[in-house]
Amino acid sequence: MPSSKTQTTRDRNLAKIFVALPLLVTIILAALRAVAGSMLGGVGLLALVYCGARMAVALRGWTPRFLRRPRATRLKREGRCIRGAALVTGCTQGLGRAFARGLVERGVPVVLVSRDQTKLEALAGDLQSEFPAASCRILAHDFAGPAGGFYGKVADVIRRDVALVVNNVGVGVDYPLTHDELDESMLENMITVNCCATAKMCRVALPLLAERGGTIVNVGSGSAAQPTPYLSHYSATKAFVEQLSRSLDREWRPRNVRVLCAAPYYVSSTGLYKARASWHAPPAQVIVDGVFATLSDARQGSFEVIRACTAHEVIGVLFTSIAEDPVLSSVCAPVARLLGASGSMVEVMAKARGRYLASSGGR
Ligand SMILES: NC(=O)c1ccc[n+]([C@@H]2O[C@H](COP(=O)([O-])OP(=O)(O)OC[C@H]3O[C@@H](n4cnc5c(N)ncnc54)[C@H](OP(=O)(O)O)[C@@H]3O)[C@@H](O)[C@H]2O)c1
Repeated sequence: MPSSKTQTTRDRNLAKIFVALPLLVTIILAALRAVAGSMLGGVGLLALVYCGARMAVALRGWTPRFLRRPRATRLKREGRCIRGAALVTGCTQGLGRAFARGLVERGVPVVLVSRDQTKLEALAGDLQSEFPAASCRILAHDFAGPAGGFYGKVADVIRRDVALVVNNVGVGVDYPLTHDELDESMLENMITVNCCATAKMCRVALPLLAERGGTIVNVGSGSAAQPTPYLSHYSATKAFVEQLSRSLDREWRPRNVRVLCAAPYYVSSTGLYKARASWHAPPAQVIVDGVFATLSDARQGSFEVIRACTAHEVIGVLFTSIAEDPVLSSVCAPVARLLGASGSMVEVMAKARGRYLASSGGR
């Protein structure tokens, strides 16, 4: 464990970075404005100061890589912050699997919930062979089907020793589809799994977690933060998850339960688009690390919705505060286009839809 002196130095260095960066940007811009001496310069300056402030708030508590503690120390510290076992839904692949592995890696006992018993057993076996001290229990359930006695079993499991519930299970569409292309069963499945299952899990978990203090992490999506055409229904279900989390957090904080919504943009897991890892589609482990860092960092205790990685926090500010603002977007969109980048989620989805139509022969 680094000493409190090292911690204070680290915090001071961080404070310096956060004060120095906006100051530097402001000075450069003031100089530019003096040169340009125009109205446009003034508007640009204000816009950039505003965006800088938004970015600084979004990245509060973020520590540059060179100032971070060694990984093993961080894992131990984060594991100790979870005072009990953790239950993860939708855990046999993608983000859920990364959550399960991340918890075991931090020494936390896990309860694995997904719909396929065989896949769950295989996952528990994999975790146990990678981390011999791992403690894994499994519970098979299809969230799209009838509940049966499932929520009663969940209550028993949570009552026993669970301190963290990760409501990760979620389904989307395989391709960017228009409203009329999405068939009714897909729509119902999305609402049942993404909205009803999350709400029911929260309903069971909250009063039980309140008895000894605990946390719920609901997995939302960056698609809910701004208009996301061709993923309209999926993003709407995730907006439900986000709003539910925000309100439940305010309602249950006084009773010692935190409800955090982790809402990343694209993840290069086996998800919707099976994107390859890149700066904007990081591997699932990056998101999971970001969530545990947030949960264990007192400076981030007030966060209700996080993107869980720096690149996604920045994309979030670009796609919401800039691209959706009529004035800022008119300045920034041409710059983005000049750089060959997508300036908004609408553009990202239009391109994805174009690729889909091209690959499917225009159907
Ligand atoms: N991937 C992304 O880019 C991304 C971005 C933002 C947010 N998210 C959100 O992150 C979460 C995980 O996404 P992902 O891409 O990692 O998912 P994924 O790879 O498709 O995995 C989904 C998991 O959920 C389980 N599952 C699916 N339907 C289920 C059901 N009816 N009952 C029980 N378990 C079920 C699957 O298990 P079995 O098939 O073995 O049963 C699997 O383990 C979702 O909530 C998603 O909306 C994903």
